[in-house]
Order: sequence, then C-alpha cells, then structure tokens
Amino acid sequence: MTVTDQSPSAKGSGASATEAFRASRSRHADTGVSSERVSTVVQAVLDGVHAAIRDHKVSYDEFQAAKQWLIEVGEGGEWPLFLDVFVEHTVEEVAAESQHGTKGSILGPYYLPDQPKLPSVARLPMRPDEPGTPLVFTGQVRDLDGNPVAGAELDIWHADNDGYYSGFAPHLPDGNLRGVVVTDGEGRFEISTVQPAPYQIPTDGPTGKLITAAGWHPWRPAHLHLIVRASGHRPITTQLYFQGGEWLDSDVAKATKPELVLDPREQPDGSLRSEYDFVLERA
Ligand code: DHB
Ligand code: FE
Repeated sequence: MTVTDQSPSAKGSGASATEAFRASRSRHADTGVSSERVSTVVQAVLDGVHAAIRDHKVSYDEFQAAKQWLIEVGEGGEWPLFLDVFVEHTVEEVAAESQHGTKGSILGPYYLPDQPKLPSVARLPMRPDEPGTPLVFTGQVRDLDGNPVAGAELDIWHADNDGYYSGFAPHLPDGNLRGVVVTDGEGRFEISTVQPAPYQIPTDGPTGKLITAAGWHPWRPAHLHLIVRASGHRPITTQLYFQGGEWLDSDVAKATKPELVLDPREQPDGSLRSEYDFVLERA
C-alpha cells in the first residue's frame, strides 16, 4: 500500500514513530544498569516466553513464523507502535504506584517535543477549515494542597477528526493540533480545538496483521494527550477520553482509566465544552 492523501501507510507512520523515538532518546544520557538487573528482568521475560511455548505446545512452524513477524516489525519501524499499544500500559501501571494527583496514562508513539508556547487562552494551531466538532477545554492546574499553579505547561497533542496525528501523516501540516499552553496567574487555561476521532492502529503493517490474525480490533477511543508540567513539580503524562465514546470499554492499548473521562456539554451552537482540573505533586 502506498502513502495516499487520506490514508498514511503503516510504513509511513511506523517509520516516523521510530525516528521520533530515536530523536527523544538522543536527549537522554545513558545511565548504567547493573548486570544483576539486566539478568533478573531479561530472565523473567524469557521465562514467560518459555512457559507460553510449553503451555501451548508451540510448534517449529509457529516459532519460525514468529521470527519472521519480529523481523517485519523491525523493518517496518513499528516497534514504538507495537510496544506502546501492547506493553506501555503495564509500565505506566508500575510508575503510577508512586504517583499522586491526576492519574497518568501512556505517552504513546506520537509525542513531538518543542511545540510553540501558547497563552492561557489559546486555540491550537489548526487548518483554516479544520474538520470536526469545535471543543473548548478549560480547567485549572493545582498542587496537592489545592494551591493554583501559575505558569504550568499543558503540552497537548491529539488526532484530528479522521484519527491522524500531525508529524506522522503526510497530508497534515506540521504542528497541527499540537501546542504548549501556559496557565495564567490562577493556574487556569482555556484551550480551543476540535474533538479528535478514535484512533485505529495502521492495519497494513505487521502490528495490524497480528491484530487481524488474532481476531482483535485495532481501535483506541478518542483521546487528548497531555503532559502537564511545572517547575518544582513532578510532570504528569496522561490522556483524557470522552464519555460515551466508542471503544472506551475495549481500548486496544488498555490505557483508559475512569478518572480520565471527560463529559463535555453541548453548547447551543453545537460546539462542546469540557472542564478538567489537574493536580500535580511536588517533585
Ligand atoms: C498508539 C497510538 C496512540 O495514539 C496512542 O495514544 C497510543 C499508542 C500506537 O499506535 O502505538
Ligand atoms: Fe494517541
């Protein structure tokens, strides 16, 4: 399948997601990991694989097919897509054990840093004719004691009305529906955007092929992505969903939480308005 205007291929979004991931890693210094830690965790992963083979009597044919599929995931650049859909939610669950305040959720493969900073009342960068139901998203950032956090950053990104993310779909302008909104002196913000559509994992790549082969569905419910950060506070990476939205109860990435569901009110002009307050803990 080729990249068309309306349908970016798995190859296109997979490769871009791998590129974005590499760029984000280059900002991190490599910290040493002890051989004990490597041995413990890797052995546990291998133990799980061995147990699955024994329990389900995996054949040579199936083993070789798995090998071929793993090669294709790498060649298609789909490791970020695959791992963020099927594994990240458990890493987040462990991180959440020591986190207070607003619940977190997975980062996913489509975050791009260094988006333009916008004032507390802002419209996300969008096409002049951006399709979708207008959505005004307002709220306040506070600390655990209820004090407003002025100058907090809401780094927000989301899919468009067709479920595509800018930077990963060639037909969308760079930076579309992405921005860093800074709260006012009272910690408040008001963001104008459009409601995103549910997201479908590209069906034409190896991840999609696996999902089809297993008879699963490839959908995530519509969501807003956010990283909320403020100096002296622990940043929160999270996602917000929409009450009544399709796939809310069967997210393929298992990244929904009941505390993270918006209930937007329809306005007389047909637009949606929703409020959500974020709570940060001190770093
Ligand atoms: C994936 C896509 C998302 O939009 C998301 O939030 C999480 C994961 C993915 O395709 O891996
Ligand atoms: Fe997403």
